Amino acid sequence: ASTAPNLIAAVSERRQWDRLMELAKLGAITGADGSPGVNRPCLSPLDREARRLMIGWAEGLGLSVTVDEIGNLFFRHEGTEAEAAPVLTGSHMDSQPNGGRFDGIWGVVAGLEAVQAIREAGVSTRRPIEVVAWTNEEGGRFAPGCMGSMAWAHFKPANAWDEVRDLEGVTFRQALDEHRAAEADLARRPLGGKPFAYLEAHIEQGPLLEAEGIDIGVVTGIQGSRWFIVEITGETAHAGTSPVSTRRDAVQDMVRAVTALNALMTDPTDVLRFTVGQVEVFPNTSNTVADRVRFTIDFRHPDKELLITNGDAIEPTIRSAVKGCDVVVTERFHALPVEFDALVVDAVEDAATAQGLSSRRMPSGAFHDAQFMVPICPAGMVFVPSRNGVSHNPAEYSSPSQLAAGARVLAAALAELANR
Ligand code: GLV
Ligand code: MN
Ligand code: MN
Ligand code: MN
Repeated sequence: ASTAPNLIAAVSERRQWDRLMELAKLGAITGADGSPGVNRPCLSPLDREARRLMIGWAEGLGLSVTVDEIGNLFFRHEGTEAEAAPVLTGSHMDSQPNGGRFDGIWGVVAGLEAVQAIREAGVSTRRPIEVVAWTNEEGGRFAPGCMGSMAWAHFKPANAWDEVRDLEGVTFRQALDEHRAAEADLARRPLGGKPFAYLEAHIEQGPLLEAEGIDIGVVTGIQGSRWFIVEITGETAHAGTSPVSTRRDAVQDMVRAVTALNALMTDPTDVLRFTVGQVEVFPNTSNTVADRVRFTIDFRHPDKELLITNGDAIEPTIRSAVKGCDVVVTERFHALPVEFDALVVDAVEDAATAQGLSSRRMPSGAFHDAQFMVPICPAGMVFVPSRNGVSHNPAEYSSPSQLAAGARVLAAALAELANR
C-alpha cells in the first residue's frame, strides 16, 4: 500500500517539537558547554510528571491508557479488527543522569504523533496500534537497562528487583512500589504480549547519518552487549606509614585490572566497544589506602563469538592482573547481537523512499528495547541524524525537521504494517 499524502501532511513538525520541549523542562539541566539537557531518572517524580504529560495528550486523542506491573505504559489506538494482534511502537522516557532531550523520549512522542496523524488523516488500520513507554531503558539509576522490555518479553518480572539498588540504596522494588502507588488510578494490564510487529523510532546517537547527509537510518540490527560489576577488595592502611610493598591496595589493583583488560580489548579495526564508566572507591579519602573498589564494565561487539570469547575472558584477565586483592566479578546483562526482520526493515525503507527521503541501512551501536522484541515478533527501528553524533550528553540534538521526517516515516510504516 502506498502512503496516503494526507497522512504525511497530518504529521505536525511543530506539535511534535513543542511536546519534546515541554517534556524537556522536566529534569532540565545545563551541560558543561551550556547545552540544555535532561536528568530524568527512571521511576522518579520527574519521570512520573513526564508520563502524566504524555498520558494527558494520549487521553486527549481518545487513546486508552494502561500500565503493567513493571510500569510499562501503553496508549492504544483501536483498529477495525479489535482482536487482531497490534503493531507496537515506542521507546523510553527515562534519561541518563547527564542526558539529552531526545534519547528515548522522541520514540514515544513520535509514536504518539504518528498515531495522531493516522487518526486525523482518517487512515483506517485493520490492526490496533499501541504506543509504549518502556520502564528503565537507560539503566542509569537501576542497572541493567531495558528492564521493562526484558520483563515484558519474558512474560515475567525481571529478577533481582530486590537486589538492584540506586546510589542512594533504594531498591528497584521499593521505587516501583512507590511508583505504582502514584499511578494507582491507571488501568492495569498483564505483563507480556504478542504483537504483530514492533517498530521503534530513535535518534541515531552516532555520526554516520549526519556525515553522509542522509535523512533516515533503516536499522538492520543491534550489536551485543555484556555488563559486569567488578569488586576488588583489599585492606585499608595509613598512607604515610604502611610500606607500599605490603599493601593490599584496591585502587592499584583496579588500575592493573583495567590495564590488562585494555590489552584484551584492543581492536585495530575499532569495532569493539569497552567502557569502564562507573567507579566507586571506599573509604574514599586521600590519606587511606582504599580497601574496596567497585567498577562497571560495558562491553559490546556485533560478532556473537567475539562477544562470548572476550566477555568470558574478563574475569580470568582481572584475576591474573591483580596483586593481593580479592576479586568478585558479576555479570548483570548479556544481550546477544540481533538482526531485525525484513518485514519491518523493508517497511521503513519503503516509507522513506516513497517520501523522497534518502536512507541507508545500518546497525545500531546502542542497545534498545527493540532488541528484546526480536524473539517475539518481527522488529525494527528507524533512526534520524544526531548532530555531531553526540548522545548521553546535554549537547545531543536533532532538528525539528529531522525529527518530523522520522515521524513521517514512522507513521507511514506503522500504517502499512497495521494493514497487513
Ligand atoms: C542505551 O542507552 C545504551 O547504552 O546503548
Ligand atoms: Mn535510548
Ligand atoms: Mn540512552
Ligand atoms: Mn537505547
